[in-house]
Amino acid sequence: MSAHELFNNLADEYDQWFEDNPLILESEIEAVRQVTPPFTRALEVGVGTGRFASALGIPLGVEPSEAMAAYARKRGIQVIPGVGEALPFDDASFDAVFMITVDCYLPLLAPVFAECRRVLEDGGHLILGHVDIDAPLGEVYLEAQDEDPFYKEAYFRGTRTVLGELEYAGFQVTRIRQTVYSFDNLLHEVREGHGDGVFAALCARKK
Ligand SMILES: C[S@@+](CC[C@H](N)C(=O)[O-])C[C@H]1O[C@@H](n2cnc3c(N)ncnc32)[C@H](O)[C@@H]1O
Repeated sequence: MSAHELFNNLADEYDQWFEDNPLILESEIEAVRQVTPPFTRALEVGVGTGRFASALGIPLGVEPSEAMAAYARKRGIQVIPGVGEALPFDDASFDAVFMITVDCYLPLLAPVFAECRRVLEDGGHLILGHVDIDAPLGEVYLEAQDEDPFYKEAYFRGTRTVLGELEYAGFQVTRIRQTVYSFDNLLHEVREGHGDGVFAALCARKK
């Protein structure tokens, strides 16, 4: 099953997980908030069901799965069908591009980071939220990878790998936060750095 089919088939289950774990969601949103500079023209690539976009004030998303996009539209987000590898926007259209837990569905990061960079104005920011597979909880994802439909399709990466790819793509990382140290639905502390929390938020400036 492709990532596209996966999210079309399981959009309800995906969105329900956040309904059942609102404090984990809030912890992740807070981590992203803490790395996000002020912005005026923002896009979320792989906006999914729009929970992060609506919480963070991102009005516009790109999303390949129609079933996921339908949720985001109900949350007031304008969604354009598309993929991160070929963003349907002119160069320098945005001062902030967000991409939250999408990198683990991308076989290659470089083409998508290059597109994000292209649509950002000079000095604009790419803000990433991702599963840090190098964190202790990463083992749980790897152990479940054969059975869990969401993990089966995933290309998990550690934050160190993502940092290297960002540098290579022409970004300078300015802020890093981490959170989520267990799967308990509670407000997890947001800390500087990476390696402990399984959710990492990074802000990278276009050089
Ligand atoms: C784990 S969900 C994250 C959704 C949303 N960003 C969130 O944090 O709730 C991954 C999303 O990435 C989308 N996706 C998969 N491949 C993509 C690609 N090549 N370009 C853009 N989005 C993609 C999926 O359809 C799905 O909505």
